[in-house]
Amino acid sequence: MPDRQDHATAPIRLRDYTPPAWRVESIELSFELGIDTTEVAARLHLRGDASRPLRLDGEGLELLAIALDEQPLDAGAWRYADGVLEVDGARDGSVLSTRVRIHPAANTALEGLYLSGSREAGFLLTQCEAEGFRHITFFPDRPDVLTRYTVTLQAERARFPVLLAGGNPDGAGELPDGRHWARFVDPHPKPCYLFALVAGRLEKIQRDYRTADGRDVKLVIWAEADVIDSCHYAMDALERAMRWDEQAYGRNYDLSVFHVVATHDFNMGAMENKGLNIFNAKYLLADPDTTTDDEYKAVEAVVAHEYFHNWSGNRVTCRDWFQLSLKEGLTVFREQQFSADMNSAALKRIEDVALLRRAQFPEDAGPLAHPVRPAEYHEINNFYTATVYEKGSELVRMLAGRLGQKGFRRGMDRYFERNDGRAATIEDFLAALGDANDLDLMPYLAWYGQAGTPRLRARGHFDAGARRYTLTLSQHAQAAAGQPEKPPLPIPVKLALFDRDGRMLALRIDDRTLGNETVVVLDRAEQTFAFDEIERSPVPSLLRGFSAPVILECDSAPADLALLLTHDPDGFNRWEAGQQLAALAFDDCRHGGRTALQAWCNALAQLFADCALDPALLADLLTPPGEVELAEREQEVDPAQIHALRQQLQKQLAETIGVLALAQRLAALDVAGPLQLDAVAKAQRRLKRRVLELLALADAPTAQARADAQYRRAQGMTDRLAALSVLVRSEAASAADALADFRRRHADNPLALDKWFAVQAQLPGERALERVRSLESDPAFTLKNPNRARALLGTFASSNPSGFHRADGAGYRLLAERLVALDALNPQIAARLATAFNGWQRLEPVRRDAARHVLSALAETPGLSRNLAEIVAGMLKS
Ligand code: PHE
Ligand code: ZN
Repeated sequence: MPDRQDHATAPIRLRDYTPPAWRVESIELSFELGIDTTEVAARLHLRGDASRPLRLDGEGLELLAIALDEQPLDAGAWRYADGVLEVDGARDGSVLSTRVRIHPAANTALEGLYLSGSREAGFLLTQCEAEGFRHITFFPDRPDVLTRYTVTLQAERARFPVLLAGGNPDGAGELPDGRHWARFVDPHPKPCYLFALVAGRLEKIQRDYRTADGRDVKLVIWAEADVIDSCHYAMDALERAMRWDEQAYGRNYDLSVFHVVATHDFNMGAMENKGLNIFNAKYLLADPDTTTDDEYKAVEAVVAHEYFHNWSGNRVTCRDWFQLSLKEGLTVFREQQFSADMNSAALKRIEDVALLRRAQFPEDAGPLAHPVRPAEYHEINNFYTATVYEKGSELVRMLAGRLGQKGFRRGMDRYFERNDGRAATIEDFLAALGDANDLDLMPYLAWYGQAGTPRLRARGHFDAGARRYTLTLSQHAQAAAGQPEKPPLPIPVKLALFDRDGRMLALRIDDRTLGNETVVVLDRAEQTFAFDEIERSPVPSLLRGFSAPVILECDSAPADLALLLTHDPDGFNRWEAGQQLAALAFDDCRHGGRTALQAWCNALAQLFADCALDPALLADLLTPPGEVELAEREQEVDPAQIHALRQQLQKQLAETIGVLALAQRLAALDVAGPLQLDAVAKAQRRLKRRVLELLALADAPTAQARADAQYRRAQGMTDRLAALSVLVRSEAASAADALADFRRRHADNPLALDKWFAVQAQLPGERALERVRSLESDPAFTLKNPNRARALLGTFASSNPSGFHRADGAGYRLLAERLVALDALNPQIAARLATAFNGWQRLEPVRRDAARHVLSALAETPGLSRNLAEIVAGMLKS
């Protein structure tokens, strides 16, 4: 049972950390697996101090037997209450044996041991991060207790033909009564959150792999029979990731098998359990008919991310959950480097920065803002956030930039070498990187300890007489709750100067020649940098590559931004200039201005005509910041107005390019023949989708006719879904038929059906709510499946601002009702969906009152989980 709380409890605090009184050197775990009841026997080989109490975590366990050093314990020698088992009489070297009963099929929270799929056909699996192991057996459930695992699984062979656990296989055999067993030994001590098992009817694909250091490894991907053929792309991605980690970081895999399992029932994206990764099917399965190009990329990225955890997370783990970003921020960064190497570096950077702005900046600006290393929490599951992951990655990127490629590698080698087999901290990370380079990187620790996105202000001044350009940079922290005083941060600012013809200028500071691009580090409140031998007033390009996770405030002239958008040799910086210009153009739409609007539209129309430009980059250039991001710039947010203005902005763009040019480009991009999955074909589809969307704004009938044709002829999911989305959003007469067709065609594919729900949940404006309500009564809808709940309710609440934020508050009421129902089943998912209310305090008054009302009532609901209660209470804090 999830923890329910009716009153506030004290938070867990970073500063209260103390090392464990007891450790577990090794554990022998054996499972007698069953769908309804499973029995778990554990033998813990304890090390510790007999004068300190032995306390083990355990949630909802039915204790069947307990013995210390092989002697059954009297009832007086142990106590089990409030999730803690306290045992008397343990000595250093004692062995504690327990036997407990648990109930997998009744576990709807999907934490601990649970059933995926139906009772008849489904399989059993575990999810232990962060604190799921305590739902399986009594244990010190904290990441700084590292233990060697021997795991024996027993089950009925017919129902559970496949038995898997982390580590190397160590025997298997038959038992009486149609039962069988299998044993796994993991030679690498690990924290219990990395424990995993899987049991059931699964099929596999496998491949032999030899590591750079000569170890033979069997790579095995497991999935249910109907989807096993969709695992080949993930297998290729896994092999690419393994090779890449050998080359880029010198890291080899370290067991004789690597298992990966796909499930449709999973709270998160995937999990890096040692030797037995478990994936949400959404990030593992891929096939041309049902997977979009973006989803292919996501599969590659998540497969790599989980694999990279084998070193950044598993071999070197976290001392406590406050250090979560030590593994997550670092692993996101490693994945970003990998994906940049496998695909286009500029496009990957665009995607990541767009995600940071869409997900992390709003989090950092709202009531749930927290540092990358939080100081306290109530429920750790609420801290798997964009801040810990994405901002955490940006911090690693700054450090990597500071050290340069060789220096960073040297630092990482030192980090892995020093901390292998240890539970480490952010300080350990900075120390290793610094020591290997004779540098003090501790000033960067301030980045990990403060919430809020810093603002970087830039002012330029050109002195024609002195032929000098001076740039004054200053930093401004937003005051965040509990953190009024913020020291200045080291902010690396990569920059270049352009002349009026769009050429990069040679940079000279203090008689040093620095090439065309340099990094200056602002580490005080304000600093001035002077560039010499500049003949004419230059156009500055600041924060190139997004060199620090800050909000840049710089009043660049629209013409200057347009110059960068059309001339910068670097794709990312081009996009960045375009985003800034688009924001100004958006303001023009509101105020009837023309300068920025025309500059943006004209620059893009010019780029549109340039056939040499990478189509995927062009697609991104043609996309202005999203509604969520635009809302971040407002004092008082009216989501309906933002939607309308953004549509108007895009319509202007479409009309400037011209209906004819759009239609011609669309026709040119519409290649016949079988689906191609190479980079060129994907880039063309990306542009095709964007052009179709623009055309729909400038000439709906033409666009709908095109979309109809595209829907019918589409060879793959990218084109099919793009067409469907345009038909649905523009309320084409044919939308209903297309939806019905899609539904029929993909009735048996849950991941495709999720897209069917999501595309409708994105219907803009007031109509969305009715659609969501009617989809809730669709027989395929269920709150029990996280992907399905996210597809409909998550998309509506978090990705459809004009739909969710109805002025009458009906969107808020719907979400709150569903959160209560969902919370009773799965608190993690309920808490996650509740973050859709983020930013409510900055809504215009009518919506703000409606939101406050709904949130206050929600906070008063009795019996909320700790997860949901923490989020809702956080939302209401001012
Ligand atoms: N550690 C997982 C990852 O980022 C995420 C996760 C957290 C999965 C908690 C399940 C539960 O790779
Ligand atoms: Zn991770």
